[in-house]
Amino acid sequence: MKEQTLVLIKPDGVQRGLIGELTTRFEKAGLTIIGMKMVWIDKAFAKKHYSAHVKKAFYPTLEAMITEGPVVAMILEGVHAVEQVRKMVGPTEPRKAPPGTIRGDYAHVSYEYADKKGVAVKNLIHASGNKAEAKDEIKLWFKKQELHSYQTAHQKHTM
Ligand code: CDP
Ligand code: MG
Repeated sequence: MKEQTLVLIKPDGVQRGLIGELTTRFEKAGLTIIGMKMVWIDKAFAKKHYSAHVKKAFYPTLEAMITEGPVVAMILEGVHAVEQVRKMVGPTEPRKAPPGTIRGDYAHVSYEYADKKGVAVKNLIHASGNKAEAKDEIKLWFKKQELHSYQTAHQKHTM
């Protein structure tokens, strides 16, 4: 039941100074950060990460957004981590994301607004969508030697 999932604090989250605040949410939920780094990806890497979206109409704006500055990449481990992290992140469109979710608490815009402006929806976080995506994304972003297994104080009470 223990799973690993990829989380990115996207350039909007980094540039808004929210690395600490967003990371804290995952730590408080008892998820273990087993790998973490700051990376400024290029367009070729963006196409690998978002391979499922490359042919979609919104892809050019998405690529511009994800490559406009560094991201903080982390691998989180925990029970049903893929599903739990997606729940904490909330729906893709901030307009629809309920309060209490990261996208609902730190953003509010709609697809309609972003499309009209010709920009990607800035929603702060990327999180793997399912277990298969998590497996592929972890392999793409992290080498085995960059992942660490250790005991946290949390584990006695949350896992
Ligand atoms: O990030 P998530 O898995 O929730 O959504 P996605 O469908 O995999 O799309 C990836 C990212 O593309 C979103 O998080 C948005 O930043 C962006 N996007 C967009 O700008 N406009 C859309 N119509 C759909 C997605
Ligand atoms: Mg996705």
